[in-house]
Formats: sequence, structure tokens, C-alpha cells
Amino acid sequence: MPYYERVNLTSTLLQLPIWRSRAAGTVGDGEEVLEIGPGPGGFAGLLHCYRVYLLEPSVPMIKYSARRLSAGRYRPVIGLAEDIPLKEASVDKVFCVFSFRDFMNKNGALREVYRVLRPGGQLHVVDLFRAIGPLRRLMMELWLKRGAGTILRLAVPRKARKGWKHDPYHQLMVTYRGIGTAYEYEGLMREVGFKEVKSTDLLLGSVHYLQGAKPSTT
Ligand SMILES: C[S@@+](CC[C@H](N)C(=O)[O-])C[C@H]1O[C@@H](n2cnc3c(N)ncnc32)[C@H](O)[C@@H]1O
Repeated sequence: MPYYERVNLTSTLLQLPIWRSRAAGTVGDGEEVLEIGPGPGGFAGLLHCYRVYLLEPSVPMIKYSARRLSAGRYRPVIGLAEDIPLKEASVDKVFCVFSFRDFMNKNGALREVYRVLRPGGQLHVVDLFRAIGPLRRLMMELWLKRGAGTILRLAVPRKARKGWKHDPYHQLMVTYRGIGTAYEYEGLMREVGFKEVKSTDLLLGSVHYLQGAKPSTT
């Protein structure tokens, strides 16, 4: 966990703070928002508003993030995106920053997000998706297999790496092979009922910012 941010920063070619700020910048002072999969809380720390629910299945992550997210606005909640323990129409925005790819049932999770959003509320997803086009796909696989792993070894001391059960990039590669393209999830969002669905390519057709809104009148 102490090297989590360093690993993420290097693997995103130092772009992570820019992407996080862009999504966090959409939040208004008086809003109630939900972050799904806050992990150690790197993105959650940027959410300045009335209330921030942090939905996380991992108890060690919740305990770790609680130390850095001590402000009164944070409300940790144990649970999964596929079964959000919040009432219908209870939040103004939902954020999934590098967590969406881990949801086992993406359709179910999107339906749950739609349920807990207030009319007019928005979903913001920043994540790695399957690259569009064979060349970009090959580049991304090479980056994950070779480039990112090499940088990781430079960024994290050998002593710390010895304690890891798995190389984090091995698991990321497994996840990457299982994820669809951003366009597939745009389609899924529309099926669930989201409007104004759009996707912005943040990096080489592989990292995208997906946005959608629950209609004001349903
Ligand atoms: C890569 S971390 C994201 C960290 C954080 N959003 C950030 O930007 O710093 C992914 C997190 O998603 C959580 N997660 C995985 N599957 C989930 C699910 N189905 N529902 C909610 N959270 C999930 C993991 O436990 C992990 O903490």
C-alpha cells in the first residue's frame, strides 16, 4: 500500500493527477457523491463537497484510507458496486476511477449506479479499456508486459517488492484481457437508461473518461 500511488503514477506515464483532477473538478460544494472503489483514497482526497460515500469491499483498504480521509464529509461503506447499500436517488454524482474494470457484473453495477443517482445526476468513469484497433492493442499489451513492469522495478525498492504476493502488472494484464472497449460500455450505459453518454480518449485509445447522466425526469 505505501507504494500504491507510485505504481499508479508511473504506469499512467505521470498522467494520473491530471485525470483525477479533471473528474474531481466536476463536483459542486453542496453535493453528495459516491466513489466506488476508492482503494487507499488518492482520488477521494480531491473530492471537496458536502458528503462523500466511499464504497469499498476491501476492509484493509477502508482502514488504510480512513487515516488519510479523516474529514467529516467522508462516509466509508463496505460493499460492492453490484449491490450498493444506499437508497434510491441519494447522490448527485458517482465516480469510478480505475475500479470499473474490476466489477464482475458491469451491467448490474451500472443499474445500481443508475438507481442511487438522483434525477439529473452523473456517472464519471476513468479507466483502462481494451484499446481500439490491433496496433494500439499490441502497444498496450507490450506496455503492460514489458514497459510498466520495468518502470515498476525502478520505482519500488526490491525489499518492498519481495513482500508482494504477485507482480501488480500480472493481475492488470489478466484484467485487461477481460475488459471490453469504452464504446461497448457506452452502449451498455445507454441500455441502462443513461443519457448524454460520451467517452473521451485520455491515452492511446486505452484510457478513457466515460460520462453519462440520469435524465432529470424519469
Ligand atoms: C485501483 S483501485 C482504485 C483506487 C482509487 N479509485 C484511486 O483512484 O486512487 C480499485 C478499487 O476498486 C475496488 N473494487 C474492486 N471490485 C469492486 C466492486 N465490485 N465494487 C466496489 N469496489 C470494487 C478494489 O477493492 C480497489 O480498492
